[in-house]
Amino acid sequence: MVQYRKIILGDPLETEAVVEQPEAEQWEEAGGLPGFLLGREKKILRYRMRDSQLVYGLGETVRGINKRGWKYISDCSDETNHTEDRNSLYAAQNFLLIFDEQGAQALFVDTPGRVIFDIGFTHAASLEITLDELDAAFYYAEGSDPLELIREFRRIIGPSYLPPKWAFGYGQSRWGYKNEQDIRRVVEGYEKAGIPLDMVYLDIDYMDHFKDFTVDSEAFPDLPGFVREMKEKGIHLIPIIDAGVKIEEGYPVYEEGVKEGYFCKKEDGEEFRTAVWPGLVHFPDVLNDKAREWFGNQYRTLLDMGIDGFWNDMNEPTLFYTEEHLEEVFRRLEELRGQEMDIWKFFEFGDLTGSISSRAEDYRTFYHDFRGRKVRHDKVHNLYGYYMTRAAAEAFRRLAPDREILLFSRSSYVGMHRYGGVWTGDNKSWWSHLLLNLQQLPALNMCGFLYSGADTGGFGSDCTEDLMMRWVELSMFTPLFRNHAALGTRVQELYRFEELAPDFANLIRLRHALIPYLYEQFVRAREQNDLLFTPLALAYPSDRRVRTVEDQLLLGDALMIAPVYIQNAVGRYVYLPEPMTLCRFRSVTDYDRLELPAGDHYIDLALNEVAIFVRPGHTLEVTGDTISIR
Ligand code: GLC
Repeated sequence: MVQYRKIILGDPLETEAVVEQPEAEQWEEAGGLPGFLLGREKKILRYRMRDSQLVYGLGETVRGINKRGWKYISDCSDETNHTEDRNSLYAAQNFLLIFDEQGAQALFVDTPGRVIFDIGFTHAASLEITLDELDAAFYYAEGSDPLELIREFRRIIGPSYLPPKWAFGYGQSRWGYKNEQDIRRVVEGYEKAGIPLDMVYLDIDYMDHFKDFTVDSEAFPDLPGFVREMKEKGIHLIPIIDAGVKIEEGYPVYEEGVKEGYFCKKEDGEEFRTAVWPGLVHFPDVLNDKAREWFGNQYRTLLDMGIDGFWNDMNEPTLFYTEEHLEEVFRRLEELRGQEMDIWKFFEFGDLTGSISSRAEDYRTFYHDFRGRKVRHDKVHNLYGYYMTRAAAEAFRRLAPDREILLFSRSSYVGMHRYGGVWTGDNKSWWSHLLLNLQQLPALNMCGFLYSGADTGGFGSDCTEDLMMRWVELSMFTPLFRNHAALGTRVQELYRFEELAPDFANLIRLRHALIPYLYEQFVRAREQNDLLFTPLALAYPSDRRVRTVEDQLLLGDALMIAPVYIQNAVGRYVYLPEPMTLCRFRSVTDYDRLELPAGDHYIDLALNEVAIFVRPGHTLEVTGDTISIR
């Protein structure tokens, strides 16, 4: 049995990431963390990595499954470019697993401020963890089996969120569905093409002027009636909720929040003002118990209309600008006006307007009332999305204890996995993001996030029909399966790709046929603190070949998946660490089977074909429309 030790530096804030708390030891008494040196400046932990060690974890980040060779910064960010040169995305999931044949070590750095994980970026063999604050709790364990370290970590952070079973269906979303008619048209498009549809997501357009917990009454004159109409078709409507509350006289959420003092405040005690979609907003202080309860209660408006699912957004929290900074920018622009625009001024000009959002300086200007302490936002920044989502989940337990509610969030911290799932934010319609989607899944699982998935087809930029098909061939295995796209991009509802619509219908039916297995494995992974998606290097520790396989994953205990993620490819190489049965599906009933020995194989996979590999000792049987996997 492995056990986590809790070793603390200074006086850390209690984040409630971990629920099964080991006895805490002070760094000095504990003799520090085995293998880690505390740097002279006392904010850096150094660890020397052996060449043979792989480093996994960190949840939702850029790059591959093995995190070696880059610098990752836990600093929840509204980052719309998930390119490999970025350091931060929306999440802060500070769990690392370091392992090779000689053994494994696991470390969770529990501190709600910024943390830099330099994993062989500055020096190839050196892992350096730099903290903004000296106050942090480290949860550390070692053992021979890395999977056991993951299981024990998951046990101490508590059980993952369990969504309603219907949330394993297929959902359509798009920023820009303006009204009931738009949504009816989408539903009709799916019906006509014979493609099953289980959820339609409502983006900010459903709200009255982007005000949380309101509905635009012209666009949706009778939302409860519309919810019923859709439910009769088996479709759940899932609205978005944003972090910022619009500043507007007469808007009850704003007025009540101000009256009760539930919004984040500046040093001088005035409410902090910033801008997001609705224009000027306040941020509810979800870190404060009372304010969190109050904000959670607001979801009632929509619950009462029959809504049974939500996605929480912009909760890093994103700020577009503050009025103070905007003033400075205008002042400086005025100064520049009329001056000769040399190249440096030209650069400054671009920077002035191009970097006004979510500035570190602005995050230092407001405060939370957290566990009785006044805490500056930047010191607890990474907790905001977690506590916003917790606000909702706690409210659902109070307000609708008998209902199962779908809930997921953009920003997250370990601990939030008990309250909701995550989607991986504003990716792009790029082939590289299809692979990134696959690589993020096991890392998310390690940190407790089982209900997760990416914007299928890509959020930004234009999706092509072949990218959508290949992406569906991955997302059909992810618990959250949602097609979502940004305003202004090419339409990408599956029925829009007319020639391929029958194939899409087959694939979504195939997903439906796989739900019993997916759900059963999800529940098992949740109960046994296992991964749903396992990298091959963890499952076959004695096979050196699999250490670099980053485009195949085990799914549950019976299957392996290996999607195609290269445009124009008509197949791909797959490495089998053990003999497996390949089932190549074109639809639930149209498939072929091939027994393959261990080793390298080139597998032909036409655009409409999905490969499912069945591991030895397991079976996959198709009877009529059902697939049973044992
Ligand atoms: C954010 C979300 C995206 C949503 C958009 C408008 O960019 O990540 O999913 O569509 O806001 O609400």
